[in-house]
Amino acid sequence: MHASLSFDQAPPISVPYRFFLVAPWFGATAGILLVWAGADALGSRWTPEALALTHLIALGFMLQAMCGALFQFIPVAVGGNVWRPRLVANTVQPLLLLATLLLVAGLLFGRPVLLSAAVPLFLLAIGGFVTVVALALWQTPATGMTLWAMRMAIAGLAITVLLGSLLAEALAHGFAVPIVDLTNVHLGWGLGGWALMLLAGVSYHVVPMFQLTRPYPSWFTRSFGLLLLGFLLAWSSRLLLDDALWSPLIAYPLLLILSAYAGTTLWLQYTRRRKIHDATSLYFRVAMLSMLAFAVSGTVYFLRPELGADPRFVVWLGVLALVGVFVSAITGMMYKIVPFLNWLHLQRLGAPISAVPNMKKMIPADAMTGQLRLHVLAVLMLLTAVWQPGLIRPAGLALAASFVWLGCNLAGAVRRYQGFRDQIRAAA
Ligand code: HEM
Repeated sequence: MHASLSFDQAPPISVPYRFFLVAPWFGATAGILLVWAGADALGSRWTPEALALTHLIALGFMLQAMCGALFQFIPVAVGGNVWRPRLVANTVQPLLLLATLLLVAGLLFGRPVLLSAAVPLFLLAIGGFVTVVALALWQTPATGMTLWAMRMAIAGLAITVLLGSLLAEALAHGFAVPIVDLTNVHLGWGLGGWALMLLAGVSYHVVPMFQLTRPYPSWFTRSFGLLLLGFLLAWSSRLLLDDALWSPLIAYPLLLILSAYAGTTLWLQYTRRRKIHDATSLYFRVAMLSMLAFAVSGTVYFLRPELGADPRFVVWLGVLALVGVFVSAITGMMYKIVPFLNWLHLQRLGAPISAVPNMKKMIPADAMTGQLRLHVLAVLMLLTAVWQPGLIRPAGLALAASFVWLGCNLAGAVRRYQGFRDQIRAAA
């Protein structure tokens, strides 16, 4: 199952876990924020609550989890040597946590001083992270499209954070910059150039491995990342050219390649020989169906301008992308990585293999599928709440509860690791 992985350089288990254990609580905070804010929170993408929620999910949940996963994935899957992972993680993770809280509070309460305070922390945290990861990704002798997608994703993260910092400073100090266009370019790089690029690159590697599918077709892996990059560069030209002309011309083919990625992944799942329906596979299915729903909704947005003129339409797209696609895919991935890391690190303690508990014992299957169902319910309730604001509080509650459950599942896995580790040590 893990034939193409090399574990010699895997970092200490605390490195990915310090990111994974924090991430769900940012998601839970997002749910609580919705409960607190109530009916007006999702009226448009520009409400303080919507901007704060976006970053609780994008930075608090997604970025924390993706950084933790990269520390693990780079040495193990593409043979990259990350410089002093424990030191870097111990520095980057708390800085990132603090910066996210400051940015979210600054957006929510409209406090320029908090926005400005977040910027140097982000530049330091992400600047340091991007540097060590980029060095590892460029120095590895490995080849392949996963590696190229990861290189592009890291560049996408750097661009996103630079544009986000510019936006935060512009809002804090009232600089004369085209805020809406800049925000659209920033979100394009954040969701497309960073998050989707990384998700796709990692999928080429882990979907066949974890979900026992055939590999992605090589024509697809060779073209997807480059096309995405090309569209993002064209999308960024809106800062210089006429926006009304460009948007649909770029958006339609972009939505088409998103559908191609989602459709291919669903097809691979559907045609695999052994049908396993574990939480990871189901979570990926939810993510890919959300991506297809996003592509269809995006097409409607451009085809029917009178519908797109409703400010809630973009919020609907945001919920589909952030909670439907990325939270689902990342959670599914964590449910595979965490039990495996527990097993790997226990097995490295030197005990006979028979003494190391099975991966299935690390997080109970029922707890994962129960949490998955609650997450799906939360996504559906949030999507409904966009049009029926009376539902926002219950939807926020469902979202908070699903993240709390995820947090408990992951914390339980860590406790089990510690328990088994102590048993093995005592036996030795
Ligand atoms: C790395 C992942 C990030 C992602 C995926 C991301 C995503 C987004 C999205 C989707 C929006 C639009 C929200 C909306 O329309 O409601 C947005 C806006 C914004 N982002 Fe980010 N962001 C990221 C990082 C950052 C960082 C690091 C900063 C600050 C240093 C930042 C600052 C901002 C600001 C200030 C706005 C709002 C601009 C306005 O009100 O016009 N973002 N971001």
